[in-house]
Amino acid sequence: EKGGYDHFMLKEIYEQPRSIRDCLRGRIYPKTGKVQLGGIKEYTEKLKNIDRIIIVACGTSWHAGLVGEYLIEEYARIPVEVEYASEFRYRNPIITEKDLVIAISQSGETADTMAAIELAKEKGATIFGVCNVVGASIPRASHAGVYTHAGPEIGVASTKAFTAQVTALTLIAFYAAQQRGAITQSKLIEYLTELNEIPELVERALECNEQVKSIAEKFKDSNNCLFLGRGSSFPVALEGALKLKEISYIHAEGYPAAEMKHGPIALIDEEMPVVFIATKNSSYEKVVSNIQEVKARKGKVIAIVSEGDIDVKEMADYVIEIPQTNEAFVPLIATIPLQLLAYHIAVMRNCNVDQPRNLAKSVTVE
Ligand code: M6R
Repeated sequence: EKGGYDHFMLKEIYEQPRSIRDCLRGRIYPKTGKVQLGGIKEYTEKLKNIDRIIIVACGTSWHAGLVGEYLIEEYARIPVEVEYASEFRYRNPIITEKDLVIAISQSGETADTMAAIELAKEKGATIFGVCNVVGASIPRASHAGVYTHAGPEIGVASTKAFTAQVTALTLIAFYAAQQRGAITQSKLIEYLTELNEIPELVERALECNEQVKSIAEKFKDSNNCLFLGRGSSFPVALEGALKLKEISYIHAEGYPAAEMKHGPIALIDEEMPVVFIATKNSSYEKVVSNIQEVKARKGKVIAIVSEGDIDVKEMADYVIEIPQTNEAFVPLIATIPLQLLAYHIAVMRNCNVDQPRNLAKSVTVE
């Protein structure tokens, strides 16, 4: 059932080229520059007219929501707020019929997310679900939605469900952009053509496995780890940290790289591993200077870089190259080595990778 892999988590990591492809199937037409989302089609007028979107989710799904915020704001130009479902629901949130709430959940059964939906519905908002498990409570409670089609995820640590959620949110962002006239047809053709190639790029990113394993060997006994990224790579950093802490029990934190100087920099010494997402895009130069700051304090730098990178290679202790892609799609590729890093470290520490202590696959308690 694990298809020859030692753990479900590893199997699910390797399934990502397929799961992302399944999420895209029948939904994008790169040649004509069209996005089609049958599950929200009836609500297209609503999507055209709303003033803001509120995303509610927990854990990894909340991280996907943060990536979604970048994409929806950047391409569809709709203001987005991302909320922890558990905080949103206990706060008497300001929400009206004019709002669109997107609830993201792999299981579709998370109690806090479900309660947030009920509250938003009472206040008249329209609810879209972005869920993996077909027919679960959250999709049933939503007005419309986009299934992620990642297939069953058994490992408690979410991997392929995360990248499928990010893919689904990317589709919603470009669908909204198209419908609201926020993007030109020729740009849309360009983006969709690149998006269509993401499964192959994920396949190539997986080739870093052996190298990541040898890096894992060096850091398996660490007590702490920092993950830093900017822009949409900041949520990727959060996700990398969550993966490491939940399955290896190493304390890890994700931060926006520029926030380091406002506190976490005090932690840096020669023992401290710092994982940077330093791919070639708009914030590259800034991230390079953050790497210099860590090296000046003798921290150990592991950098995720774009293929062919030169600058970071000179500074970092370890670099992991991933295929170059459009900035919009970097989270889908940069997440792969971080999943593998957490996986190998957890295996080396003899942790129960698929069923980490104290955690359940779906959290149906509040
Ligand atoms: O099923 P959901 O997506 O609603 O679950 C939300 C979180 O409980 C979940 O993402 C959790 O954080 C995972 N263990 C992350 O790997």
